[in-house]
Amino acid sequence: MNELQPGNLISEAADMVEAARSMVVSTGAGMSSESGVRTFRGEDGFWREHRAEDLASIEGIRKNPELVWEWYRERLKACEELEPHAGYYALVTIQSEKGILPLITQNVDGLHQKAGIEDVIELHGNLGSASCIDRCGAPSVEMTEELFEELPPRCSCGSILRPDVVLFGEQLPEEALRRAFHLADSCDLMMVIGTSMVVYPASSLPLIALQRGVKVIEINPEVTPLSSLDGTISLHGTAGSILPEIVKVVYGG
Ligand code: OAD
Repeated sequence: MNELQPGNLISEAADMVEAARSMVVSTGAGMSSESGVRTFRGEDGFWREHRAEDLASIEGIRKNPELVWEWYRERLKACEELEPHAGYYALVTIQSEKGILPLITQNVDGLHQKAGIEDVIELHGNLGSASCIDRCGAPSVEMTEELFEELPPRCSCGSILRPDVVLFGEQLPEEALRRAFHLADSCDLMMVIGTSMVVYPASSLPLIALQRGVKVIEINPEVTPLSSLDGTISLHGTAGSILPEIVKVVYGG
């Protein structure tokens, strides 16, 4: 395993970023944590307090729609109020210096887009809208404060609404998934930021790259199943500090 020796591993990572022609970035909940979004499995993670199936499944919504929608209301409000940290702007710099490179995320909080990152592939959907749990065919509605005036919010057909995020047991959006696998199969460098690497299929993307002999730069304060794999450069620090350091080495400033 390549343990972080801050100076030389950062310059090694910076050299790799500089040399890459088709780098792809994949992010998880840890990317947002320094902006104030809670992760799922960390010390303060959502899944320490709630069972994932209770809040993030169709059965959970049907069983306890008020509780689930309270949770989404809180998350949405937090996301609207939060601001992207310096790590996001470092990614904006990389994108603008290297030409737009797609970014794959498991996050639904919209912070990448808020920072100005383009071409975000959202594997788990987005908190921005909701639709009929019974798929009545009515168009999805934007998630605004008014939607939460009476909980649970309802579709025009009378059924409960569900957020347009991927819930447990559901298929991922087809086009996002197709693009993510294609990128894993064609990139010449992958950067994996802030994911515990336990949720498939996002967790398989760096493995596909590694199998082709492509290097993976991991940024995470904790060790994950990816950290010890051959070809992984593991930078054990936070996204908000490591990404700006890499960008400083590559582009100065
Ligand atoms: P997790 O909560 O499982 O993992 C977050 C990871 O981020 C951990 O490995 C932390 O060590 C790391 N981390 C924490 N702070 C960090 C920081 N400042 N910089 C970098 N890394 C940091 O989140 P995900 O792996 O994204 O799915 O979880 C994947 C999916 O599990 C989520 O999308 C969600 C959840 O159940 C659904 O809801 C479908």
